[in-house]
Amino acid sequence: MTDARQPATRHLISINDLTNDEIESVFETAASYLEAQRDPDVPHRIKHSSETARGRILASLFYEPSTRTRLSFESAMLRLGGASITSADPATASTAKGESLADSVRVISNYADLIVLRHPRDGAARLAAKYAGVPVINGGDGSHEHPTQTLCDLFTLRRENRDLKGLNVALSGDLRGSRTIHSFIYALARFNANLILMPAKGMGLPEHVDRRLREEFRCVPAPTSDLKAADASVDALYVTADQPHQLSLLTEPDLGAPIDIASKLAQVDVVYVTRFQKERWKDKEQEYPKIGTNFLKATKYSGTRVMHPLPRVDELDVEFDADPRAVYFQQAAYGVPVRMAIIAALLGLAGERSLKQHAGGFAPTKQVLYSRPPQTGLRCANPNCIVHDPLERHYATNDFHLDMRHGSTLRCLYCEGEIDGFVAADRQTRQFAGFDPALHCPDEVFGDDVVLFASEDDARAAGFGPAAAGHGEAA
Ligand code: NCD
Repeated sequence: MTDARQPATRHLISINDLTNDEIESVFETAASYLEAQRDPDVPHRIKHSSETARGRILASLFYEPSTRTRLSFESAMLRLGGASITSADPATASTAKGESLADSVRVISNYADLIVLRHPRDGAARLAAKYAGVPVINGGDGSHEHPTQTLCDLFTLRRENRDLKGLNVALSGDLRGSRTIHSFIYALARFNANLILMPAKGMGLPEHVDRRLREEFRCVPAPTSDLKAADASVDALYVTADQPHQLSLLTEPDLGAPIDIASKLAQVDVVYVTRFQKERWKDKEQEYPKIGTNFLKATKYSGTRVMHPLPRVDELDVEFDADPRAVYFQQAAYGVPVRMAIIAALLGLAGERSLKQHAGGFAPTKQVLYSRPPQTGLRCANPNCIVHDPLERHYATNDFHLDMRHGSTLRCLYCEGEIDGFVAADRQTRQFAGFDPALHCPDEVFGDDVVLFASEDDARAAGFGPAAAGHGEAA
């Protein structure tokens, strides 16, 4: 039993772990640090230190390369008067001896007050949060999410006096592999921006991200034929329905009128560029869009802000750096005050704005948890999910959320990849049948004897037989 007086440990794994109000309060804290501690000569740079987190320790646990995320977190902790310890080379960490992430974070929880994790596997940060005894911050997990980068991105727009509501934001490059994009677009949709997708060939949004945008985040896609007729270089345009997000909303979002495509594309307020995520693709030769002065000379880009999470390779011309529309170095500089605010909020050092005091989290739909031991039944279908990491074989339980609106889509708790179509077996009757929420998940709770399988063949292989006809026979 959790003690109601004891606030739960808050983690920051997905941008959706924060409500819109919580995001705003992180920005207020970041702005106050910037005001109090900045370099008088450089408005976006923190120069002075405080005593806010004196005696506290941040552990940065990085299994993938990083410059900005790790160093800005460590700088942020030092500017707050705290200290940091680092493990940034997997070859010299106990992982090289075969230690699981679950064990590592349990141990590190005794050495530090919070952990920032970067990992090549999708969903690794959620697994770490399950086992750590201190707050875990996701510093990028595979191609899943990078929520603190999104907070830096949104804060940059705020400092540029851009109101997100109705803002036309173009996203260019590897929209499939870039975790920064996934966190950013969820936030943009939640703050009612319009999304103009300009992916490199074959690098559009993952299917589940696209589906969540439409079904949970009230994004309405413009009809493809009308869009292509207006601008063939744009792959998709989403306009966010200007209505409050509601639980279990069954209706399609309604804009009240057809999308005025021409007006959305006539003025692009932000161009967000990402590099080709070569470490996430097997095929390394790609045709890739290049953004620079030539691309940005069209009138629609005259007032735009060009952003990039960095590092850049060749997709963003260095000659553009001197252009006043380029804000990517400020964006990187804001990493320090924003991460100071995140650390302080998670450690309960931000007063009224501390995240520790609230349950929090943005939950647009009603979800029911299904959890079974690692070797039992259905596994996540995403091969890069942390559940498939051999080191985590004893820890990565098969955890999914069932979306109660459909009752037929499971979302992996770790990587948020989705599975449609599965069968349900009963450990008592030793029979399987097509999944029926009313039967297998009555009153929105999974029966203890229910085990899900990806297919009838998998259920048979585990020793179950088909239910008799007329008793919910497998479809
Ligand atoms: C990004 C990342 O690691 O996802 N870098 C960062 O943290 N700013 C972007 C990238 O690597 O392309």
